[in-house]
Amino acid sequence: MLLLYFSIATILDLAYADPPNGLCSNNSKYTDNSPFQNNLETLMSSLSSNASVSKIFNTSTGIDPDRVYAQYMCLNYVTNETCSACIAVASQDIRQLCPGYKEAVVWEELCQLRYSNQSFLGSLDVSGNIPQYNPMNISNPEDLSLVVNKTLSGLIKKAAFDPAANKYATEDGPFTNGDTFFSLVQCSTDLSPNDCYKCLEVAIQNVTTCCKSSRGARVFSRSCYLRYELYAFYNSTAESNQTLVTGKGNKSEIWIIIISTVASTLLVVAILGSFFYHLAMKTRKRKCKDSFYEIH
Ligand SMILES: *[C@@H]1O[C@H](CO)[C@@H](O)[C@H](O)[C@H]1NC(C)=O
Ligand SMILES: *[C@@H]1O[C@H](CO)[C@@H](O)[C@H](O)[C@H]1NC(C)=O
Ligand SMILES: *[C@@H]1O[C@H](CO)[C@@H](O)[C@H](O)[C@H]1NC(C)=O
Ligand SMILES: *[C@@H]1O[C@H](CO)[C@@H](O)[C@H](O)[C@H]1NC(C)=O
Ligand SMILES: *[C@@H]1O[C@H](CO)[C@@H](O)[C@H](O)[C@H]1NC(C)=O
Ligand SMILES: *[C@@H]1O[C@H](CO)[C@@H](O)[C@H](O)[C@H]1NC(C)=O
Ligand SMILES: *[C@@H]1O[C@H](CO)[C@@H](O)[C@H](O)[C@H]1NC(C)=O
Ligand SMILES: *[C@@H]1O[C@H](CO)[C@@H](O)[C@H](O)[C@H]1NC(C)=O
Ligand SMILES: *[C@@H]1O[C@H](CO)[C@@H](O)[C@H](O)[C@H]1NC(C)=O
Ligand SMILES: *[C@@H]1O[C@H](CO)[C@@H](O)[C@H](O)[C@H]1NC(C)=O
Repeated sequence: MLLLYFSIATILDLAYADPPNGLCSNNSKYTDNSPFQNNLETLMSSLSSNASVSKIFNTSTGIDPDRVYAQYMCLNYVTNETCSACIAVASQDIRQLCPGYKEAVVWEELCQLRYSNQSFLGSLDVSGNIPQYNPMNISNPEDLSLVVNKTLSGLIKKAAFDPAANKYATEDGPFTNGDTFFSLVQCSTDLSPNDCYKCLEVAIQNVTTCCKSSRGARVFSRSCYLRYELYAFYNSTAESNQTLVTGKGNKSEIWIIIISTVASTLLVVAILGSFFYHLAMKTRKRKCKDSFYEIH
């Protein structure tokens, strides 16, 4: 019985991401077999091969007014193979989610892809940002808020303004109750340092308004990405140098015993809890989904 609930909880934890998320611009449509559509098809079918060598890529094809501009971005920590596979899926999804649209964005779990009839490189657009929370609540949201605010505000400066960071930064460190806080930010490299900073600043505002009671959250935006969790969603040993976030973690053995006892109790409560708000989530998730497709 417990195992069953645990499986349900695990599925729910994974299900909240629920990609792909699409955003279609409502200003204009192309028609079937138009030159625009041909250019779009050509471009979309070529991108996954580019993704096997580059994590971020822009291109365009055709001549005005049927020219199509496209750009994709994979999260920096994925392998080239994963990036390529992700873009292959995204280039299908974007046409299924936004059929006939001259401008669209799709966000997958590990990559994002956009196209338009006009060039968008180097211009910041934070409209239509999609914040998403981890459905697991946290018992000490105030502690997490502090860490989120403190860690992310440093991290976005690093990503935006440190040339060595190249618009990407991660940080992990101890949180309360033996948990570890993992965070990641990334901008597409065509943004200026200032615009990268602005994009991520808005993303922080979006998570702080949407997701305070959650154990984790992320923001899908056109030119940047932000995420934090209390588990290693990226390979932290590969890229990050354990940095202290806040000083509440206690490593003494007695504490570990106490914490694991409390954690086991909480786990049982959490498992039961997650089962019940599975229902609540369904409603909330649908609400969230609808807002992506508000635009027609
Ligand atoms: C998109 O649709 C919304 C309402 O659905 C409308 O308010 C807005 O003006 C439209 N934008 C464009 C560019 O057509
Ligand atoms: C990337 O895409 C361009 C077309 O935009 C193509 O000419 C080029 O060969 C591609 N590169 C790779 C490595 O696939
Ligand atoms: C993977 O992509 C990187 C650039 O992000 C490139 O330097 C590297 O050669 C690629 N690896 C393979 C196996 O293509
Ligand atoms: C893109 O399409 C919109 C709507 O049809 C149009 O107003 C705009 O001028 C187009 N942009 C370019 C560069 O063709
Ligand atoms: C999680 O937190 C939100 C906001 O405080 C609340 O509405 C929701 O009921 C909580 N869910 C559970 C299972 O505690
Ligand atoms: C984040 O911290 C700054 C000071 O470092 C403070 O001004 C701001 O209000 C905090 N924001 C939130 C959402 O707690
Ligand atoms: C667009 O892609 C080309 C490579 O195809 C690259 O040289 C250029 O820097 C990119 N432009 C921007 C603004 O990212
Ligand atoms: C994200 O934050 C910006 C700035 O506060 C706000 O204008 C925008 O509505 C927010 N978007 C979402 C989806 O919360
Ligand atoms: C994480 O990165 C380290 C160092 O690059 C590597 O040894 C390890 O296999 C990676 N783990 C995963 C799960 O990719
Ligand atoms: C972590 O950073 C410190 C100083 O910034 C450096 O001395 C150390 O070698 C780094 N460790 C790793 C594993 O990168």
